[in-house]
Amino acid sequence: MSPVRLFLSCLLLKEAFALSGRFWHITDLHWDPTYKLTDDPGLVCASSGKRPAASAGIFGDYVCDSPWHLINSSVYAMKRILPDPDFIVWTGDDTPHVPNDHLGEEAVINIVGNLSHLINEVFPHTKVYSALGNHDYHPKSQHPGAPNSIYDQIAEIWNKWLDPMSKETFKKGGYYTEELLNRAGFRMLVLNTNLYYDQNKVTQNSDDPAGQFSWLDQILTEATNNKEKVYIIGHVPPGFFEKKRNKPWFTTRFNKQYLDLIEKHHSVVIGQFFGHHHTDSFRMFYNSEGSPISTIFLSPGVTPWETTLPGVVNGANNPGIRVFEYDTETLLVKDVLTYYLNLTYANADTARWEKEYRLTESFRVPDASPASMHLVLEQIATDPCYLQKYYDFNSVSYDLTDCDSDCRVDHVCAAREVDFDRYEHCLLKEGAVSIHGGMLLVLSVATSLVMAYW
Ligand SMILES: *[C@@H]1O[C@H](CO)[C@@H](O)[C@H](O)[C@H]1NC(C)=O
Ligand SMILES: *[C@@H]1O[C@H](CO)[C@@H](O)[C@H](O)[C@H]1NC(C)=O
Ligand SMILES: *[C@@H]1O[C@H](CO)[C@@H](O)[C@H](O)[C@H]1NC(C)=O
Ligand SMILES: [Zn+2]
Ligand SMILES: [Zn+2]
Repeated sequence: MSPVRLFLSCLLLKEAFALSGRFWHITDLHWDPTYKLTDDPGLVCASSGKRPAASAGIFGDYVCDSPWHLINSSVYAMKRILPDPDFIVWTGDDTPHVPNDHLGEEAVINIVGNLSHLINEVFPHTKVYSALGNHDYHPKSQHPGAPNSIYDQIAEIWNKWLDPMSKETFKKGGYYTEELLNRAGFRMLVLNTNLYYDQNKVTQNSDDPAGQFSWLDQILTEATNNKEKVYIIGHVPPGFFEKKRNKPWFTTRFNKQYLDLIEKHHSVVIGQFFGHHHTDSFRMFYNSEGSPISTIFLSPGVTPWETTLPGVVNGANNPGIRVFEYDTETLLVKDVLTYYLNLTYANADTARWEKEYRLTESFRVPDASPASMHLVLEQIATDPCYLQKYYDFNSVSYDLTDCDSDCRVDHVCAAREVDFDRYEHCLLKEGAVSIHGGMLLVLSVATSLVMAYW
């Protein structure tokens, strides 16, 4: 190669690299300080709620929240895999699934403090954007839309990661915004969507708890005027749980309000990143013409804890952590890399965090833009091979059983429709078979009768 060509190709290479950034997303660490190895499987951890921890090992058990060993291992795995990310997104849920009277305010604060300390110790020079989970309050999920001592104390713990202005809004409502990495034209929005959770009894009667919706509207309007590009992060996502039919998290009203804001401002919202599900999934937003306009990436949790939600089968997962590759000029998400710990193998042998999959490779799309994620969804909806692949990844390669036709409908409709009415319509359209809820059953029978006449 001639020196000139070599020079040119190096220049191009440099440019390609300059546009490519990477960040970590971790979520739902759920440390259970009571975890211990003992002969009685019912006594291994408080978070199992007396379910036997039959295969407990030093890295945990599928019915328990994370022992410290697992938490420590996940954060050091991040350091080994990608030691110098542009930033870290951390979307909450630090405390174990135990009754409120096992914890209390001080225990919740200590646990948030312990995990924050670890992340800061391992990544002392990395900016962390940190959102509150529904478990990061006492009593759990009862986050007020007003100042309180827990927001105050957590603002102090996160002091180093918060700009002065962020600290102020955080103390008022548990949310904040900053320029992304102090770069003009780029913005991070950290939401406290626990205010919209239907389990939250203290915000139910408010139209706009903590004024977060009007604030969000205002920030996104300014972002549009200033031609900014925005990422939104939060814990509890809008829309439905893909492992249980008709299971939303937000109240009807709050879900609608969130959706309206995204539709209004989608041109500046380049990515949304949430947790809470512990599973690996995503949510699509479409405009009225049916074009994909935005995507929520739901990243898997570190805790392997099997959910106790009635009706969910096989609701555990392997611990997962995730790298997003993005274009630093447009913020477009270019790829998603999920790493995981095979918990069974880790307990039997050694903690081996390995790549589970790369989105563009596994689903053969050019990037992770809304248009590409729409393609991914349509592949999952129509091709049984892609459906099964998606389903294996959904539990971070824990549940490798077949995703049957009911399972397909639940996952496809949850990913496709964040809106409550449209989700119900999707169930019908996709031919949901066993429907819980009389009305839907009647509608479904009516639809199939009409179909039969055609
Ligand atoms: C955390 O993990 C690191 C890296 O594997 C190890 O050196 C350290 O001893 C661990 N600390 C604890 C408390 O387990
Ligand atoms: C957690 O924080 C508490 C209070 O700051 C401290 O006493 C304890 O040693 C910490 N535990 C760990 C494992 O860091
Ligand atoms: C996890 O490890 C166990 C034990 O080595 C093995 O049987 C299982 O197939 C592994 N799972 C995956 C998804 O590789
Ligand atoms: Zn959680
Ligand atoms: Zn949660």
